Amino acid sequence: MKDLTPPKDSLNPIEIASRDEIAALQLERMKWSLRHAYDNVAHYRAAFDAAGVHPDDLTTLSDLAKFPFTTKQDLRANYPFGMFAVPRDKVARIHASSGTTGQPTVVGYTEGDLKVWGEVVARSLRASGLMPGDLLHNAYGYGLFTGGLGIHLGADALGLTTVPISGGMTQRQVRLIEDFRPKGITVTPSYALSILDEYAAQGLDPRKSPLEVGIFGAEPWTNAMRREIEEAFDMHAVDIYGLSEVMGPGVANECVETKDGLHIWEDHFYPEIIDPATGEVLPDGEMGELVFTSLSKEAFPIIRYRTRDLTRLLPGTARTMRRMEKVTGRSDDMIILRGVNVFPTQIEEQLMQVRALAPHFQIELTRPDRMDQMRVLTEAAQGSEAAEARAEAARDLAHRIKSTIGISVKVDVADPGGVERSQGKAVRILDKRPKD
Ligand code: DLL
Repeated sequence: MKDLTPPKDSLNPIEIASRDEIAALQLERMKWSLRHAYDNVAHYRAAFDAAGVHPDDLTTLSDLAKFPFTTKQDLRANYPFGMFAVPRDKVARIHASSGTTGQPTVVGYTEGDLKVWGEVVARSLRASGLMPGDLLHNAYGYGLFTGGLGIHLGADALGLTTVPISGGMTQRQVRLIEDFRPKGITVTPSYALSILDEYAAQGLDPRKSPLEVGIFGAEPWTNAMRREIEEAFDMHAVDIYGLSEVMGPGVANECVETKDGLHIWEDHFYPEIIDPATGEVLPDGEMGELVFTSLSKEAFPIIRYRTRDLTRLLPGTARTMRRMEKVTGRSDDMIILRGVNVFPTQIEEQLMQVRALAPHFQIELTRPDRMDQMRVLTEAAQGSEAAEARAEAARDLAHRIKSTIGISVKVDVADPGGVERSQGKAVRILDKRPKD
């Protein structure tokens, strides 16, 4: 793999500013953001008043802990535009979450917000190793999802040549990668695996593809998966994080030269880690729920938003801005099986160790006789389809899961291609337990 480290002088100076400079900017912007939310959004005024706090009560960054959290329920209760802090005609763009689990969450951006979004995504793409003039194959979905259009904004801001292919039509994805010769691809890690399958189906060697870097996010993925993808395509795999409520992609990104966690673009998004049970703010280095406060957003300021993503904050390395460790799970995706907490990424990590299995899986939960049961549905790798090899691989995986996670699961190994493929975010959990 080529060294793609961006030259220092190509960075925005704030990315490598001193901690004092960053903190001073954060404090100034945080005061503005709290005041802006309080003055212009009825929800924030009512919530601050109920908690007995006022924007003037913030004199240091740690005073933020006095302010109430914002949750997804708050956003739903103010559907569709109730959380906007500017008149509707000043909103230049609307995005929304898919709403598969309830009412969609609607977010808005002013022209100014779109500029900031472009800037933070441009930083992310540069940190990943892309430079002005490079060609990018953008396979995140375009539409209400923030992935496609968010990356596109940043690619424009950085001066890339963008192929806005969006998700789906996998044969064509491979064709255009081979014909247009992009240096970078932006895509969910699970869809990258579908593209990888298509390389095999077309008899092409993915290691000979023009791709030098993949920028993967929108869903959890492990370092084991990183190694698998890097090896398969002979390219760098870096992690990009974000969520619609805070902006979209580009809230944090790994640096290609270190790949040691994601630098949070802290001049626009202020992170905290809390104990999810008590709401208490935890010191850097401790694991907990990630909470974000926007520092510059105009249309949709967000104060202490509980992301439900679990991670910890670490000091800067390649940049002075703090890092968040790879997100390995959301509290929503945590399965409690007979008292043991399990995240799908833990299953992924074990699966990657078994050579005879392909890196595709789903977890099915059932409750046959009042006891929850987990079945891991995976598939044989090419060349390991024989019944014996499969049975051996199933035993191996079940054993690894038992000895590392401590739970007994049933493993079924389907034919190659037998596990449903993703074209965007993978569906990992099929919950077939009776709803009580
Ligand atoms: O997924 C934004 C995005 C698009 C990020 C493209 C990166 C690339 P939402 O649809 O609102 O926004 O989903 C946000 O996805 O709270 C996490 O649970 C999860 N997520 C996003 N990035 C990562 C990542 C976009 N790198 C939710 N690792 C977040 C793990 C991630 N989980």
